[in-house]
Amino acid sequence: MNLVKRNYIFDFDSTLTRVEALDILAEITLVNNPKKDIIIQQIIDITNLGIDGEISFTESLERRIKLLKANKVDLLVLIELLKKQVSKSIESNKSFFNEYANDIYVISCGFKEFIDPIVKEYNIPSERVYANTFEFAKDGEIIGFDDLNVLSKHNGKIQCLRDLNLQGEIQVIGDGYSDYVTKKAGVADKFFAYTENISREKTTENADYIAPNLDEFLYVNKLPRNISYPKNRIKILLLENVHIDAFEKLSKDGFTVEVVSKSLSEEELIKKIKDVHVLGIRSKTKVTKKVIAAAEKLMTVGAFCIGTKQIDLESCKENGIVVFNAPYSNTRSVVELAIGEIIMLLRSVFQRSTELHNGQWNKTAQGSREVRGKKIGIIGYGNIGKQLSILAEALGMSVFYYDIEDKLALGNATKVNDLSELLSISDVVTLHIDDNASNKNFFGEKEISQMKEGSVLVNLSRGFVVDILALKRALESGKISGAAVDVYPEEPAKNGEFITELKGLKNVILTPHVGGSTEEAQKDIADFVPNKMMAYINSGNTVDAVNFPNIRLPRQTKAHRFLHIHQNMPGVMAQINIVLAKFDMNITGQYLSTDDKVGYVITDLDKGYNQNVLDELRKVVGTIKFRVLY
Ligand code: NAI
Repeated sequence: MNLVKRNYIFDFDSTLTRVEALDILAEITLVNNPKKDIIIQQIIDITNLGIDGEISFTESLERRIKLLKANKVDLLVLIELLKKQVSKSIESNKSFFNEYANDIYVISCGFKEFIDPIVKEYNIPSERVYANTFEFAKDGEIIGFDDLNVLSKHNGKIQCLRDLNLQGEIQVIGDGYSDYVTKKAGVADKFFAYTENISREKTTENADYIAPNLDEFLYVNKLPRNISYPKNRIKILLLENVHIDAFEKLSKDGFTVEVVSKSLSEEELIKKIKDVHVLGIRSKTKVTKKVIAAAEKLMTVGAFCIGTKQIDLESCKENGIVVFNAPYSNTRSVVELAIGEIIMLLRSVFQRSTELHNGQWNKTAQGSREVRGKKIGIIGYGNIGKQLSILAEALGMSVFYYDIEDKLALGNATKVNDLSELLSISDVVTLHIDDNASNKNFFGEKEISQMKEGSVLVNLSRGFVVDILALKRALESGKISGAAVDVYPEEPAKNGEFITELKGLKNVILTPHVGGSTEEAQKDIADFVPNKMMAYINSGNTVDAVNFPNIRLPRQTKAHRFLHIHQNMPGVMAQINIVLAKFDMNITGQYLSTDDKVGYVITDLDKGYNQNVLDELRKVVGTIKFRVLY
């Protein structure tokens, strides 16, 4: 409870609403005017000149009204439009306006005719709205304004506040310079530059606080709010040039996002990570134990790629940090390359192309085959294997597959339980098994010898899966007629020279691990990973987390949500429930998931509860992280 009486003075245009009302009125009145765009731009320019204090406000108002040529009936349309343009965080914090009705005023250089009906819905009566009023001609045309009103004059807000003579602290919240000057003139105690809709340097550089939304204003003032923690206070650090879409998506949701184009060394990251809540990396940045120890606020790490070897997953888990990646975003990219390469191999296209690059015209049909009707043997019928199965079938190939797990056949594919059988019938063998260590040298001399004479091999999975020297021998002997290889037992960390034993062999397509590297995949990753991280931050969901018990939570409605991450040891759950019972909490839902190391329990509760429960839950032995969401 605040002991000092406070008065909250809100600006209207671009603060309570997202727009400048007179600009919108211009859109309405000029709808059929051929010079519409020019006039609207003139109005916007004049508005900005006035807001920034470049011309007197009275002049700006006069000039705009002249250009507007508006009528009373246009105002009705304007009001309906403005109702839909209330600022997002104002709309979501209606309860603040209800609870603090007596302390809230609107002081605006706009017009009561359109402000009153909008703010009335936020419990602000006309008596507490200080703004200009229009003058109308008999036919309803707006011909001017009441020029005796102080708000039609330069520094009108200062005079208005002076005349009001409010008792207690005066806080002004607005986006314009004319709002700031109230503080400068000493008639306001604090000025909050409101930047949810527009950020003006002249205003923000002078502000006591910058409020990117009402949540921040309410948080600073310890006032009731709709959201537990303002999102702008959640710092996200995106490294390694992750796709711009990720930045846009996360910023749009209200988070504060910093982008660094390169990867950071352990030392650099340790320095930077201290106040970061969310970290986004690709494959180069190493998230080590030391980095995690320095990360005081880190909640989640997003690997904007497939692999997560660069992250110490166990350390993250022990510290309650949830890690996400994008395992499926490049599936289609790999499949398309596989299809393309299979066709190229069967037609010996690369061989013909290399010959022609060297000036050799070798028009021949020998060794050049269609894929139609050929048998493809897919090894590893996972995400990639299955999608390849569908596309290969669409090309007219007969699909056979082998997987160590029981996988359902898609389309007309045939499951083969014995690897050697699959190898002996396939014209094309393509590897899509996962990268677990037991798959090292999975495909060697023996497997190659079981392949059909003259067949081809594609490896877009992992380099260590194939015995490269065995493959080389088979290609040289003609046992197999071609191969496409994208992955190698050892791959360099950065671009530059790279020599493989397969260099120079005929009908061998070599690519530098680019199977999944497409613009579309990068874009998809930039959509997928932020979605997962936002779902975790905003509602506690851990679906698809790589190092954490997965929980898909229902939507949280009208409830507070306690998220408790703890060491998985006997008695923690019981302790949590003892505390909840002690405080007589009305639980509306509880969800628990554990793995060998951590437990993650989510409890949804009715809003009204004794705040001391939070401290007690934090004190439960074994607690790693605890937060409240609403
Ligand atoms: P996934 O995990 O969905 O599927 C792998 C499948 O292989 C599973 O069904 C599994 O049961 C099966 N499997 C594992 N070991 C096997 C074995 N020894 N014999 C038969 N089946 C076995 O993986 P996903 O997403 O389909 O990826 C497949 C591979 O592609 C992975 O190795 C992945 O690292 C690689 N990859 C390569 C890319 C590139 O740029 N070249 C891009 C994306 C993935």
